Amino acid sequence: MAEQIKAARGTRDIIPNEVYKWQYLESTARSVFEVFGFREIRTPIFEHTELFVKGTGEVTDIVQKEMYTFNDKGGRSLTLRPEGTPAVVRACLENNLFSESPVQKLYYIAPMFRYERPQAGRYRQHVQLGAEIFGIASPRADVELISMFLCFISKLNINDIKLYLNSVGCKECRPIYVEALKNYAGERLDSLCETCKDRFQRNPFRMLDCKQQGCRSIFAKGPKILDYLCDECREHFNTVTELLVRLGIAFEINPFLVRGLDYYTKTVFEVTARGLGSQDAIAGGGRYDNMVEELGGKPTPGLGFGSGMDRLIVTMEAQKIKFPEPPTTQIYLASLGEKAATRIFEITYLLRKKGISAEMGMDRSLKSQMKTANKIGAKYVIIIGDNEIDRDMATLRNMANGQQESVNIHSVVDIIEGKLVY
Ligand code: HAM
Repeated sequence: MAEQIKAARGTRDIIPNEVYKWQYLESTARSVFEVFGFREIRTPIFEHTELFVKGTGEVTDIVQKEMYTFNDKGGRSLTLRPEGTPAVVRACLENNLFSESPVQKLYYIAPMFRYERPQAGRYRQHVQLGAEIFGIASPRADVELISMFLCFISKLNINDIKLYLNSVGCKECRPIYVEALKNYAGERLDSLCETCKDRFQRNPFRMLDCKQQGCRSIFAKGPKILDYLCDECREHFNTVTELLVRLGIAFEINPFLVRGLDYYTKTVFEVTARGLGSQDAIAGGGRYDNMVEELGGKPTPGLGFGSGMDRLIVTMEAQKIKFPEPPTTQIYLASLGEKAATRIFEITYLLRKKGISAEMGMDRSLKSQMKTANKIGAKYVIIIGDNEIDRDMATLRNMANGQQESVNIHSVVDIIEGKLVY
């Protein structure tokens, strides 16, 4: 036998037994997001590399280490979308959505590609449910967005979640904080891990993100960004927390939450859930008031989040949350003999044309056809043998109670239709 080719590392198939879970999440997300006034947007899977270098940020791990970048046959540098936000901004600008209406509320359900070390909950292709709001500077939009995600989570019955909140300031106040952080870290550089030493040079703010216990306790005693916010950023943050309290949404302020993307301004947040291992963020996001301008548009505030569907499903499984059962085939048609087989072929088509899901047995014994009918959970089975055909009759079996009746073959479709209505 020839050697089998396996899926690429960090990718996986979603087989039919799993797909219905994804469809359930997707339809729940769509209905919640639409109730909150969001419309779907779909952008290409690949973009010019430059979009992510500029939008996601040159010194982020995503751009420096994780992008799937390639040259196409025309010599253009293209990149498989590692995250949705710059792509949505580009699409809004390119399609003049901001001139149509300065406020845009958009969502997407789309695969993202990152060359990361695969582990539980971390894949090289993952699907994100994301949403972005443009054109609203008010902190009410921050809470609108967070509350929408939490509504979605509660619709799914996910429990034990935590909302972490921070502010990363703005162009005015963040540099002052970063200076203070650098001074503090500079005096303790020898005690910091190699990654922090590297970040100290390249992107000092990200040192706060370090998972090493030693570095964490050093930064725990260091300067906190919330003490350095300018008046506007502080007021924004205070209003966000007040509004969250007003809506009864619990949160925890985490001064070390800086996120892996550099475009954020003011509010940043992450949601974690019980049931995931070390990769426990089911969503992350925040405000990015400079991105639209940086990508060539007029100054337009923006904010959004992304949530990993793969992780939501793992969380639901770990929390033993039931998914709705996938729809079953309603009618099964079994036959005995050639003439009957042709007849059920025809009746199956008529049922399907009416929108009734039907499956037929082919080339197998009546016994094994009945087994299949049971297995697929059919409500009714239509059985036709060659001797019944001659009498224009069919047997109709109610699978719930085992009762059988003999019916006229010409009226079987109408009879089924009538039975399914009740
Ligand atoms: P992010 O935090 O990089 O943010 O990703 C958002 C979510 O996607 C994460 O919280 C996680 O649930 C999921 N995720 C990320 N990487 C992986 C992976 N390798 N495998 C499985 N799941 C993953 C963003 O991407 C921003 N674009 C979010 C945003 C939108 N900010 C503003 N607007």
